Amino acid sequence: MAAGQWRKPEDISRTKDTLKYYTDLAKLAEKGKVSAIFFADWYAGFEIYGGSMDAMLQAGHQVAHLDPLPIAAAMAAVTESLSIAVTMSTSYVNPYVLARHYSTLDHLTGGRVAWNIVTSWAKSAANALGYEDVVPHDERYALADEYMDVVYKLWESSWAPDSAVWDMEKGIAYDPSKVKKIEHKGKYFNVSGRNQVHPSPQRTPVLFQAGASKTGTAFAAKHAEAVFLNTSTLSQAKQVIANARAIAKEGGRDPKSLKFFPCIVPFIGKTEEEAKEKYAYALKYADPVAGLGQFSGYTGIDMAQFPLDEPINLTGHAQAGAIQSVFNALAASEEGQDGSKWTPRRLGIKMALGGLHPTPVGSAEQVADVFEEWSSELGADCDGLNVSSVTNPGSWTDVVELLVPELQKRGIYWNDYDVPGGTFRENLLGTKHLRDDHYASNFKWPKEGPVQKEEASKQPEEVAAMPTQATEGSHAEPVKSEPVPAMALPPVQAAIKVQ
Ligand SMILES: Cc1cc2nc3c(=O)[nH]c(=O)nc-3n(C[C@H](O)[C@H](O)[C@H](O)COP(=O)(O)O)c2cc1C
Repeated sequence: MAAGQWRKPEDISRTKDTLKYYTDLAKLAEKGKVSAIFFADWYAGFEIYGGSMDAMLQAGHQVAHLDPLPIAAAMAAVTESLSIAVTMSTSYVNPYVLARHYSTLDHLTGGRVAWNIVTSWAKSAANALGYEDVVPHDERYALADEYMDVVYKLWESSWAPDSAVWDMEKGIAYDPSKVKKIEHKGKYFNVSGRNQVHPSPQRTPVLFQAGASKTGTAFAAKHAEAVFLNTSTLSQAKQVIANARAIAKEGGRDPKSLKFFPCIVPFIGKTEEEAKEKYAYALKYADPVAGLGQFSGYTGIDMAQFPLDEPINLTGHAQAGAIQSVFNALAASEEGQDGSKWTPRRLGIKMALGGLHPTPVGSAEQVADVFEEWSSELGADCDGLNVSSVTNPGSWTDVVELLVPELQKRGIYWNDYDVPGGTFRENLLGTKHLRDDHYASNFKWPKEGPVQKEEASKQPEEVAAMPTQATEGSHAEPVKSEPVPAMALPPVQAAIKVQ
């Protein structure tokens, strides 16, 4: 995330193509009781700046991008409680294939995996995958919404919880009557098949999302269990979180069961002076052109068209394919209050030092004050922070060795995972499987989806007499609507997310 820092002699970012880089990072994170490591991901790359990818390649920034799926398995192999969130796109990965990826990873990690659901905004990815352009914004979400039904069916209703028998005497491994094909016929997807993998510890991975538009927020309020935020100020984050929680509540969910993780890029020292020195040292290496290349990639605006040191005003430059929350973060930032203060160089440096997120510079105590303020109910009321690094591994060791002990001392960070060796959802929400007030609980075996309006209006006996959609040796129960119980949640400790 921090362009140019690899040029520091002690920075190890150049070894990002080795297993050791990831396994060391995983072990360090678990030492600090970090709840999860988050892998952002996309296809192709940023080629808006100057109309090519040259600036990014030269800067070694956001390029040479390894596939996070196998990395996640390797990280899990050297840890016991740390979870891993991997991004995948509903626009480009077939849902049947994606369901298998996550079921596999959930088995191999003992249930320590999350899926960051993205719809993909960049034209370069569309082109690389054989499309002329991205699907328009709101339709991408409509498609993603149907996509979720397909994967819920595969994860939740294709195999019964007791389908694995392993009866030595009778010679039955899986009971065929407890495994059924899902039959999905929709606007975007047709699937007739069983999940290829038997139920994994969490069945459905923990669901993360990061959309911030109106449709993106509605999607998150329905599907996400946790949300990454791209917010630059406390008040902006507070508003975004309160809004999304209110929408989730309208949809019948406990608003507190939706967890929020705003991004933050702290510079931590043993003293304030040391932190300031670290910031000044990082500034020396920050690459503004690569930072602008990243900004161009997020927004679709070619920043190479503006002189580096003249004030810019981006009003009127917004592109259809932009990540809207980047503009919101820009507008909400201190500099954004007075548009004349941004020059491309300044924006490029800000991007190169971790982006438009808050960047507190200070001692562990000072940075802990910021974390405490953000996570308090009067602050942003978030559930943890998504920490981005500037220097590898220096930023991470500062978090684990300096910040975490201070947060623990204040009682706002857990001393150990709630469920050591447990699943991600147990440590995040106190429950192994999807909560009953989550939309996907409509798909939990033997249910096969929300009850349609005309079915719901029938008398219970009529519903019970109806054949189910299930085919092939299915002993599925008829679809019934069930009341949604409100579940009491155990308090979740403030947790750090690492990006
Ligand atoms: C913190 C954060 C992380 C994101 N990570 C990814 C990512 O890894 N891959 C991706 O394709 N999009 C990513 N996005 C983009 C979002 O998934 C989404 O496409 C974008 O915010 C536009 O949706 P919206 O219009 O609803 O805001 C991220 C966005 C935010 C704010």
